[in-house]
Amino acid sequence: MPGRTEKPIKASEITAPELYYSRRSFMQLAVGAALAPLLSQSAWAGDKLSGKPNPAYAVPDKPTPREDISHYNNFYEFGTDKEAPAKLAGSLKTRPWTVAVEGEVHRPKIFDIDELLRLAPLEERIYRFRCVETWSMVIPWVGFPLAELIKQVEPTGNAKFVEFITLHDPAQMPGQRSSVLEWPYREGLRLDEAMHPLALLAVGLYGEVLPNQNGAPLRVVVPWKYGFKSAKSIVKIRFLEQPPLTAWMKAGPNEYGFYANVNPQVDHPRWSQARERRIGDFFRRQTLPFNGYAEQVAGLYAGMDLNRFF
Ligand code: MTE
Repeated sequence: MPGRTEKPIKASEITAPELYYSRRSFMQLAVGAALAPLLSQSAWAGDKLSGKPNPAYAVPDKPTPREDISHYNNFYEFGTDKEAPAKLAGSLKTRPWTVAVEGEVHRPKIFDIDELLRLAPLEERIYRFRCVETWSMVIPWVGFPLAELIKQVEPTGNAKFVEFITLHDPAQMPGQRSSVLEWPYREGLRLDEAMHPLALLAVGLYGEVLPNQNGAPLRVVVPWKYGFKSAKSIVKIRFLEQPPLTAWMKAGPNEYGFYANVNPQVDHPRWSQARERRIGDFFRRQTLPFNGYAEQVAGLYAGMDLNRFF
């Protein structure tokens, strides 16, 4: 750690972030979780937005460089090329921003984004992220459990599913002028999946506010499912009795199911899901069931035929 001065310099400011993170995870392993809080700062300062590292939710894999995480994106509201979101998402205005939480809840509410940022302590969690297109990354997110928000609005006994809806504004999102998907982007989870402690509402990555192209100011992250379940730039969360019809299920019902759990044994109709290319690696690696989170989440699907409920 740098010496304490009036304005401490974070190691992340003097080292390439990915180096900082790999060194830091080494240090955390070495010194143990007890000292980890010393390495954290939970505060806003310009674009800085860090959370307290949560070692219980940090995979040991090397984090993907920030440059790749923020320049190789799927965000069809800004075009279908991987590079387009980084070029075009600057037009997205993330303040003011509200998120309406409604439907089968006792306490529906419109949250201001800055209120959401204070809803629960921000944590840093290093998650694996696997896209259905077979590339993968390791991302140090900043956020808080989705369950914290759900508890605030008190779902009714009828609430069985949660739908996430992205902003619909073609003036800011030029990709919405094309009909590649039905807008707004919609995704959904079963309520028990949404309540699972791994399900995250992310507001930052690498200790900074989310880049617009990664779904600012607020997105879902569900690390045991294919990346398309993780809806970006959310403006509405609805609690429903029936499963919502998601954007990808409408676009390709035979290719994209509601569950979309990472499953190396169930191929996409047009390609195998057995292996993946970790961005930055030369060789492909085997994909793990539930993206390596089977121990935590397999119980959610006990007794279900995962070939049918893909
Ligand atoms: N959310 C919206 N609103 N629009 C999108 O096109 N793409 C999804 C998901 N969330 C998408 C979205 C897909 S296919 C993936 S793989 C991830 O976002 C990509 O997230 P990343 O660019 O932050 O890696």
